[in-house]
Amino acid sequence: MRRKLAAGNWKMNGLAADLSEIEALAAAHPAPRSEVLVCPPATLIAQMAWKARGSAVMVGGQDCHARPSGAHTGDIAAAMLKDAGASHVILGHSERRADHGETDALVRAKAGAADAAGLVAVICVGETEAERDAGETLGVIGAQLRGSVPDGATAASTVIAYEPVWAIGTGRTPTPAQIAEVHDFLRAELGARFADAEDFRLLYGGSVKPSNAAEIFATSNVDGALVGGASLKAADFGAIIAALDAA
Ligand code: PGA
Repeated sequence: MRRKLAAGNWKMNGLAADLSEIEALAAAHPAPRSEVLVCPPATLIAQMAWKARGSAVMVGGQDCHARPSGAHTGDIAAAMLKDAGASHVILGHSERRADHGETDALVRAKAGAADAAGLVAVICVGETEAERDAGETLGVIGAQLRGSVPDGATAASTVIAYEPVWAIGTGRTPTPAQIAEVHDFLRAELGARFADAEDFRLLYGGSVKPSNAAEIFATSNVDGALVGGASLKAADFGAIIAALDAA
C-alpha cells in the first residue's frame, strides 16, 4: 500500500508570523494516516522545522541547486536544505521551469543532488493549456517524466506531481477522467523504467481545495496532492488532509 501524501507549497509567501499556521496544523492533525509535508520559502525552513519538531508535519524546500556547493550566489544546495531541517524538496515546478528556464536535464541533475543529500524529490510535470488543446498532453508529460526523473530514482527517493499548468492558481481543475488518464499513464511509464513503479506516490496539483479534494482523491492512481494557495491556512490544508485520510 502506498502511504498517501499531502504536500503544501507556500511558494513566495510567508513570514515568521505565518508559522502559527503550522502550529495550528500540527495540533489539529497529531496523527494523520497520510504523510504531511509543507514547503515554505527557504527563509522559513529552519524555523518551521523547529516549530514542527515532534509533530507529523514534515518540512521541504521548493528548489535546490544541482551542485553540492560552490560559487552560485543566491542558490541553495540540497545539503543546506537538509541541514536546515528539510526532508523533501520540490523540483521542476512549472513556475521554476517558466520563470528560470529550468529544463528536464537540469531538473534531473537537481534530483540527483537531492538524493545524494538524503532529500526526497517531489518532481513536477504538467502540460500547458495550449499543449492540452493540441492533444499533446501525454506526449509532453511522458517527455518530462523521462527527462526529469533520474535512472537511479526509487519510490523511496522520489514522488511525482502532476500539475497541469492551466490549473495552477486558476481555480480550474481537470475532470477526474482527465486526471485518471494522466496518472494511469504516469504509472505505466514508471513501470517501463523502475522495478518499484507501483510504490511511487503520484500527487495531483493545481487548484486543490477542501471542496474538490475528496473527488480528486477518489481518482485512479492519485496518492495525494501538491497544494499551493490552500496550503497557506491551517484550516484549509487541514480539511484537505482530512479528505485524504478518509479516501
Ligand atoms: P495551487 O498551486 O494549489 O495554488 O493551484 C499548486 C502548485 O503550484 O503546486
